[in-house]
Amino acid sequence: MPTLTHDRDAFSQGKPLWSRGIAQPAVEFGPIPLSVIAGQVPADLHGSLYRNGAGQLERAGQLVDHWFDGDGGILAIHFSQGGATGLYRYVQTQGLQAEAAANRYLYPGYGKPAAGPFWQRLGTQPKNAANTSVLALPDKLLALWEAGNPHALDLDTLDTVGLDDLGSLSPHQPYSAHPKRDPQTGDIYNFGVVLGRRSYIQLYRSDGTGQIRQQGQIPLPRTTLVHDFVLAGPYLVFLVPPVVLSLWPILFQNKGFSDAMGWRPQYGTQVIVVDRQTLEEVSRFETDPWFQWHMGNGYQGADGAVVIDYSRYDNFDTNQWLKEFVTGHPTTPATGRLFRLRLDAIASNILSNEPLSDLEGEFPIVPPHAVGHPHDALFFCHKSQPKTEEYFDGIGRLDPNSGALDLMTFAQGCYPSEPTYVAKAQGSGWILTVVFDGHRDQSTLQILSADNLAAGPVCVLALPEVIPFGFHGTWQSKPSSNS
Ligand SMILES: [Fe+2]
Repeated sequence: MPTLTHDRDAFSQGKPLWSRGIAQPAVEFGPIPLSVIAGQVPADLHGSLYRNGAGQLERAGQLVDHWFDGDGGILAIHFSQGGATGLYRYVQTQGLQAEAAANRYLYPGYGKPAAGPFWQRLGTQPKNAANTSVLALPDKLLALWEAGNPHALDLDTLDTVGLDDLGSLSPHQPYSAHPKRDPQTGDIYNFGVVLGRRSYIQLYRSDGTGQIRQQGQIPLPRTTLVHDFVLAGPYLVFLVPPVVLSLWPILFQNKGFSDAMGWRPQYGTQVIVVDRQTLEEVSRFETDPWFQWHMGNGYQGADGAVVIDYSRYDNFDTNQWLKEFVTGHPTTPATGRLFRLRLDAIASNILSNEPLSDLEGEFPIVPPHAVGHPHDALFFCHKSQPKTEEYFDGIGRLDPNSGALDLMTFAQGCYPSEPTYVAKAQGSGWILTVVFDGHRDQSTLQILSADNLAAGPVCVLALPEVIPFGFHGTWQSKPSSNS
């Protein structure tokens, strides 16, 4: 159990209200029935929401160097028969346990180089923070972190089982945090960036149990960062940003990964198209420079064009904003906007690349049944006030074809997390989001109707502890006991 060393009022003094949500390490709780604050739990909601994020951003008074280095903590909410039970557990990684025992940070990470003399730092492995996303499989939950193996957890209790090689991964082999599940076959596609003198993307296709059944490799044009990709009809598409990682500071551990990366717009963004059947490269070409963390979805249109909706930044300053996030008062401007990229995978050129909206938008998702296929709804977090120091305060739905927007902006001082879509047997689904109320120091789970976000939540559930802002989550359906 983490020690609460920060006072929430002291940490948040002179900072935006959302900073209260990260002022203290998350406190484990549950399983505990969740009380309803407003509305009622939809009777047809049967299954579990899982969310991962950096639960702890400081230890013994020392802040992590970057948001991405916080230890992973998982929120699970199990829904059944009109009720909900919640629990929160840290992923018991080897690094977390060693640092908890020492009551100080011991390992390098994304933002932090190794400590100690040169000969001890050389080649030190970063801590697997297990903090980025979750993949729910039939018999286990995976806590994902993009530079190493996933950790397996119990789907019900969130007890950590340990590192999981999915039948094929070698120790430390990267398995990224943005897998894509084919809605027809159930196959799971993912990748890992392997860094070195000749960096490459390792490709994985797993069956529905998570076992890796096929692998491939495609070379990278530089030592860089690739966080996400799309499944787009017959293709997997990677957008490789003009970010260059200097390997020497990493090898000698003079810098963390974050500070060893530089923005090199002269290289442009490289588009790499892969055949999803063979996992072999189809084409690659360069285009304008930009940076993206997240892609909402991809598909091949009737005209043959590959369409990709993503959240685009003009440069890599977003990484600095995310570093400053842990202070509760970021000052480096970085605005992500939803864009639509259309490309010809065979002729190797861009057809168009245009903004979908003027809104600041991040964490774009589509319903799981639309992954890799044409979609008419993109859900995302948005900011109603385009201020650098502010956090998201709304959830939006955008029809990328018509431009129609449905926005839910939460009450002042309330901040949502990435939306998670839950399908219904009939009609439009639900959107689930964890909302932190900075006035009450309270987190809630809010359920919105996916086809009418602006109407506000149909149900608000109280969570017994503050859930620090997280990264990504998923939903796993369970058959209704009545069916
Ligand atoms: Fe991500």
